[in-house]
Amino acid sequence: MATVFIDGQVGTTGIEISERLSSRSDIKLISLANDERKSPSARTRLLQQADVAILCLPDDAAVESVALANGETRILDASTAHRTNPEWVYGLAELSPTARAEIANAQFVSNPGCYPQGFILLTRPLIQAGLLSTSTPLRCHALSGYSGGGRQMIEKFHDLTPVQADILGVQSYAHGQQHKHLPEMLTYSGTAIAPIFTPSVANYYKGMLVEVPLFASELNNASPEQVHGILQQRYADEPFINVAALGAEELMDGGFLNPTGCNDSNRMDLIVMGDAQRIILCARYDNLGKGAAGAAVQNLNIMLGIKESLGL
Ligand SMILES: NC(=O)c1ccc[n+]([C@@H]2O[C@H](COP(=O)([O-])OP(=O)(O)OC[C@H]3O[C@@H](n4cnc5c(N)ncnc54)[C@H](OP(=O)(O)O)[C@@H]3O)[C@@H](O)[C@H]2O)c1
Repeated sequence: MATVFIDGQVGTTGIEISERLSSRSDIKLISLANDERKSPSARTRLLQQADVAILCLPDDAAVESVALANGETRILDASTAHRTNPEWVYGLAELSPTARAEIANAQFVSNPGCYPQGFILLTRPLIQAGLLSTSTPLRCHALSGYSGGGRQMIEKFHDLTPVQADILGVQSYAHGQQHKHLPEMLTYSGTAIAPIFTPSVANYYKGMLVEVPLFASELNNASPEQVHGILQQRYADEPFINVAALGAEELMDGGFLNPTGCNDSNRMDLIVMGDAQRIILCARYDNLGKGAAGAAVQNLNIMLGIKESLGL
């Protein structure tokens, strides 16, 4: 039985991971009382006692945890701190044919960011197939529920009056192109130029859409059918990736795509839409599911050599 410590267990991501692990008989969860959860000495004790520590912390606290663990423990970090660190394995199982073996053998695994997962899984196969040039500048628009901002943003939205909630239905942010997810979007998609990234947060709890609009002329004049075919072939054997039928009629509600459609699952829908000139790639998933806690449980299972889908 593997001993697992979630550092940051009462935060948004920590709670979601605990819920997925609490009923499992193959995992022993160890935890700290509320008054000790930020104590470096108490954390050190559990970090070193665990077989795997899952960090669900702000970046600076995650860096501190790695130091406190002092090399004694395997670490799965949900923060942004180590995602492009070459000494860490990027924990996106669907990234490449060798990703699972790398995760399984790693001491340090960085759980991928929520937005980057969709962007990377949409664009990387097209770049690798030679349809999309590494030098083509990409645009990525995304929409997330407010849980993506953790406890502080959740409290901010919960405190809104009904009138404020109406006014603040959708807000764009990170306009300065310094979003903390950009480095991993650049590193793992294979594009040579950081995309223009325009995320928005909306007044619902969880669920996200990540969209990459492209002109066919940027895709070697490929048809939507060809683009769809590449994604379908690439993810044919991936249990958590659903490449929807071209145009995704089956996922639409009167022509509208609901960002919460994959909530409470570890599924990611990948969608190709548009016409012969303009193609929209879209990924839909739960930012707290496949985007965070689901991916973490998937990675933990791979690290421990357990069936990957257990608890998902
Ligand atoms: N939310 C998402 O959709 C999502 C998706 C993917 C990745 N992530 C990443 O996952 C990490 C956690 O995010 P979250 O959304 O779960 O944030 P959160 O709700 O704010 O939770 C963070 C937790 O860490 C605790 N904490 C802060 N400093 C600590 C310290 N020095 N020692 C021990 N505990 C400490 C916080 O306690 P207090 O609240 O008492 O300060 C809180 O319980 C972040 O790095 C985030 O980027 C989040």
